[in-house]
Amino acid sequence: ATGDRVPALVIGSGYGGAVTALRLTQAGIPVTMVEMGQNWNAPGSDGKVFCNMIKPDGRSFWFRSKTDMPTDYFSGGSIDKAIPSDAGVLASEHFANMRVYQGRGVGGGSLVNGGMAVTPQQSYFQEILPSVDAGQMYSTYFPRANQMLGVNSVDQSWWSSAACYQFARVGKKTAEASGYKTEFIPNVYDFNYMKQEQANTAPRSALAQEVIFGNNYGKKSLDKTYLAAAAATGKLSISTLHTVTKVAPAATGGGYTVQMTQNDVNGNVVAQKTVTADRVFFAAGSVGTSKLLVSMKAQGALPNLPSAVGAGWGNNGNVMVARANQGWDPTGTLQSAIPTLGINNWADPNGPVFAEIAPFPSGIETWVSLYLAITKNPNRGTFTFDQSSGASVLNWQSGWTQPSIDAAKRVFDTINKKQGTIYRTDLFGVYKTWGDDFCYHPLGGCVLGQATDNYGRLPGYPGLYVIDGSLIPGSTGVNPFVTITALAERNIENIIANDLH
Ligand code: FDA
Repeated sequence: ATGDRVPALVIGSGYGGAVTALRLTQAGIPVTMVEMGQNWNAPGSDGKVFCNMIKPDGRSFWFRSKTDMPTDYFSGGSIDKAIPSDAGVLASEHFANMRVYQGRGVGGGSLVNGGMAVTPQQSYFQEILPSVDAGQMYSTYFPRANQMLGVNSVDQSWWSSAACYQFARVGKKTAEASGYKTEFIPNVYDFNYMKQEQANTAPRSALAQEVIFGNNYGKKSLDKTYLAAAAATGKLSISTLHTVTKVAPAATGGGYTVQMTQNDVNGNVVAQKTVTADRVFFAAGSVGTSKLLVSMKAQGALPNLPSAVGAGWGNNGNVMVARANQGWDPTGTLQSAIPTLGINNWADPNGPVFAEIAPFPSGIETWVSLYLAITKNPNRGTFTFDQSSGASVLNWQSGWTQPSIDAAKRVFDTINKKQGTIYRTDLFGVYKTWGDDFCYHPLGGCVLGQATDNYGRLPGYPGLYVIDGSLIPGSTGVNPFVTITALAERNIENIIANDLH
């Protein structure tokens, strides 16, 4: 409530925030978590908490009157449809030349993501974050993150005949027949539960076209892992539908005043609140944290933040593309929405690519193989504060995704040539091959060791910390949440040991 003074306030409940909440509460420090999205635990009129991808409703998108699907076209027309504009679980935030998909709610991106839990190659981690002791990361913090997140692996013998992974077997066969290596990728979706879905002995989630708008069953999102453990300490309180708008040094008594707006699910303002916190942890995600800090610096609330705040943003080299398989290679009418395989061509010096073999679960046979390629794109965007609109904006130029397209094109041109197949040009627009104007993996904007010290402390403002994907300089070479979690584990351990005892 307004006027409260709290020891630790965490902005955002995604990976960085959830790790922070658990480790602080375990150290005996009460945590106040502020999350702009909903707590997704109450069923709607259909008895389900989340809607699926085929019938999106007001629970799908964050305040949009029309869906904004990543693959928003099919066979010559847009598939986006009208929906009620509510506090849905998936945000599609539009900047010039780049829209960024993000989770909204208790659990952040873990609610909407595909659950792929990938530990990056140690050599690449060392390259992107040279100031971090990689040996310690790989012996201690990556294993800790994987264990806490509940990562598991698919039973490969089940996989090799499960109807729901026909699409993945086609993706594997066509890649390997074209000279590329594929590998199984661990996941936080419970594969034993999925076996029951396939056998029709449990309600379907991954097998019922559920993923980007949440999974009703099966997925170990953060509310079931880190945040549940933090809540079990009795020291965690979460305010949902509260958006932090300002952080500034408190006038008296030290610490920081934090201003926030409480909304209802329809977007109406319920209350404006101000609390004081001894310590504030920015865990609003790469976009959320960068936007807040850039505007606090420009508007004079935190004027001494380093100039590196807002810089070093990247899309993890994301680009999507789809192929049309041969008629004898159906990808299946039943597709698990949870991916299990990646094409690993990262070692290619001409252009590293790690491509997720993604599902395209439409319920009908499409012969489509869809891929989310992660590439090594050197371009970096910058967040700045636009005085005229009063908003933080991202500078990302339209040509900056081209290196990602070039790298992915080498792989998929080769597969098409060897298989005698072609690209689908109807999924990302009318005659548009590459899904290059959006991303799932925003990273950077408040880079470790540049905008912060080597553990996320904001220089000049004791008690302010950054602890989310904004610390990672634009790329991690694989799907990012394991890296974000492990880095948060490392940083919070140091912060608790040195700043809180
Ligand atoms: P994250 O975005 O998780 O959390 C930030 C939280 O802060 C959000 O809940 C937000 O609502 C809240 N917030 C923001 N601003 C706020 C404010 N001002 N006040 C209060 N709250 C605020 N990764 C991966 O490794 N494997 C995968 O398979 C996938 N798949 C995937 C699919 C899709 C559709 C998406 C959108 C993303 C993925 N990802 C993924 C990416 C992954 O989900 C992402 O990298 C992490 O969630 C980022 O974690 P953070 O802790 O940085 O922020």
